[in-house]
Amino acid sequence: MRPLRLFHASDIHFGGENEAAVAGAARWLVDNPVDLAIISGDLTREGMPKEFAAARAWLDALPVPVVVTAGNHDVPYFNIPYRALMPWTRFKRWLGHLVTPPPVEGLAYAGVNTARGVQPRANWSKGQISRAQVRRAIARISTGPEGTLRLVTCHHPLVEVLGGPMTGNVWGGAGAAEAFTASKVDLVLTGHIHTPFVQPYPFGDGRTYAVGAGTLSIRERGVAPSFNAIDIEAGSVTVTAQQWTGTRYEPYRTWQVDRRTPPPPERVEAVPPPQIDDVLIGADG
Ligand SMILES: [Fe+2]
Ligand SMILES: [Fe+2]
Repeated sequence: MRPLRLFHASDIHFGGENEAAVAGAARWLVDNPVDLAIISGDLTREGMPKEFAAARAWLDALPVPVVVTAGNHDVPYFNIPYRALMPWTRFKRWLGHLVTPPPVEGLAYAGVNTARGVQPRANWSKGQISRAQVRRAIARISTGPEGTLRLVTCHHPLVEVLGGPMTGNVWGGAGAAEAFTASKVDLVLTGHIHTPFVQPYPFGDGRTYAVGAGTLSIRERGVAPSFNAIDIEAGSVTVTAQQWTGTRYEPYRTWQVDRRTPPPPERVEAVPPPQIDDVLIGADG
């Protein structure tokens, strides 16, 4: 396979974005082209039209292909009837054309919306993933030749992050993570907790990794604004969290993890040439 390079940002929260960090990320992409930029939700702060317009303008100006998923802040946050009845009308209007990426050689992609406008629990901002969503995602990524990177993006971490500053508390999350591991998904990209991390799911062969991006907003949770640069090679994935220093991006943490090794090619047993005696016996018999 050819190496792939991805840009993974999340929780930009336009309306409450760190303006310098957001502008700096766009400049970084000019200097460091990638195959795909992935934004894993919470593009806005309160789901307001002017916030979606700012998100759209920034995304449209990026010099690389872009794909987005929705987050819990991408609904009309404080308009409860609107949020309950039409949670995704604005998101679809402004960003709906960006939920499917253009074809990228070597990449099989599925985006899943784990956010909901309302839920039958007090904290509606936590995540949910249904079995039907998991099935559809697996169907979408189960394509491509050996070595294809199988990637799922959603907003909430499906399994809680050790030492994370908050929870995703995703209904259906553990089952989804187990199913993605069994289906040989390589990476599940998320946001929501505003902190970068990489950890394997505790299921199956341990080769499906949860990757979280930090925030590019002013709502920091113990880590400066950051995004992830993800380099994929045949045997490894390297995630580098690039942190905003106030004037530029610098590597903050790097994780390198092993990819699944492809099964060895089928061995074809060499057939020995017939011995002269065998040929004579065969002719006589
Ligand atoms: Fe967020
Ligand atoms: Fe969120």
